[in-house]
Amino acid sequence: MIDRLEALKARALEELAQIGDVPDLESWRVRYLGKRGALTQVLRGVGTLAPTDRPVVGQIANELKATLERELADKRAGLEAAARAQEIERERVDVTLPGRPIALGQKHVVTQVVDEIADIFRGMGFQIAVGPEVEWDYYNFEALNIPKDHPARDRWDTLYVGGQSRPGEVLLRTHTSPNQVRVMEKTRPPVRVIVPGKCYRYEAVDATHEWMFYQVEGLAVDESLTMADMKGTLTAFVHRMFGPERRLRLRCDYFPFVEPGAEVAIDCHVCHGAGCTLCKQTGWIEIMGAGMVHPKVLEGVGYDPSVYSGFAFGMGPERIAMLKYGIDDIRLFYGNDLRFLRQWK
Ligand code: PHE
Repeated sequence: MIDRLEALKARALEELAQIGDVPDLESWRVRYLGKRGALTQVLRGVGTLAPTDRPVVGQIANELKATLERELADKRAGLEAAARAQEIERERVDVTLPGRPIALGQKHVVTQVVDEIADIFRGMGFQIAVGPEVEWDYYNFEALNIPKDHPARDRWDTLYVGGQSRPGEVLLRTHTSPNQVRVMEKTRPPVRVIVPGKCYRYEAVDATHEWMFYQVEGLAVDESLTMADMKGTLTAFVHRMFGPERRLRLRCDYFPFVEPGAEVAIDCHVCHGAGCTLCKQTGWIEIMGAGMVHPKVLEGVGYDPSVYSGFAFGMGPERIAMLKYGIDDIRLFYGNDLRFLRQWK
C-alpha cells in the first residue's frame, strides 16, 4: 500500500509539473483528488488493512493529500500569475510615445482672401455687413435701377427660387449689390461698408465661371464724395493686396446702379505690361466693377442725391485669389481636392 502511495505521488507530481494551463489543472485535480480520484480510492482501501497498519498508512495518505493540495494551489497561483503577467505585457502602453497628431482644419483659401480684403477695408474705416443669399427681385434688381424688362438683366443669369404665390420674385442673389440698398435703408450717411458673401448664377461652368462664387461689395456714401475718393480708396486697396508698385486703370463700363460706371484693372504683375497669357496680351487685368452710386438708387432709399453722393464697387475674391496665387481654373476652389486646398495653411 505504501508503495502504491509512493508511486501515486511520483506520478501525480510529474503530471502536475507538465501542466501549462488552468483547465488542465482542474482535470488533474479530478483525477487525483476528486471523489473518484486515485488518492480517494486508496484512502477508501485503508479500512481493509490490518488495524495496526491503518494509522501509519492513513497518516501517509493524509500527508500525501495535503502535499498534492498544496502543490496544486502553488501551481494554480503560478499559472495565474503567469497569465496575468502575459496579459499585462500584451496590454502594455508605451506612455513615452508621442501622441498622434490631431488633424487641424484650416480656412478655405477663398475665406482667407475674403478676410484679407475685409481687413484692408476695415483698416480704412469700413464696417462689415452681411445680407441674405435668397433675395427679393426688388433688392437684386429693381432697387438697383434694373426694372423688370431692362435689357441689362441679361448681364446676370438668374436662378429663381420656386414659390408659386410670388412667381419670379424670389431668387438667389446674382451679386452682393442688393446689400447697398439694404444697408442704406437701415442707416443714415455717412456709410462705409464691405459686404462679403456667396452669389449664384445660372452659368455654364468653365475655367473662369462658377455657378456659385463669392463677391465682396463695397459702399461709401457721404456729403460730396467724388470719383477721386473712389480711385484713392481702390488704389490703397490694390497696393495692400498686390503690392505698392501696382497701377490702377479705370475705364468706362456700364452698370445700371452706378453713374458713371467703371471697370477697374491693374497692370499685369506677370509681364508688367509687356503682354502675356494672363492679361491676354493687353498688359491689364480686370479686377472689379465700380462707380458712383446712381441718384435713383440714392433716392430709392430716401437719401437726397443733391446732398449725398457715394461710390460702390464689387469684386470676386476667387478672381483675386487666382491672380494672387497663379491659379488658372476657378473650379479648383470648390472641387474639394484636399491636395489643392491644403496649400493654404
Ligand atoms: N454687382 C456688379 C456685378 O456683379 C459689380 C459692381 C458692384 C459694379 C458695384 C459696380 C458697383 O457685376
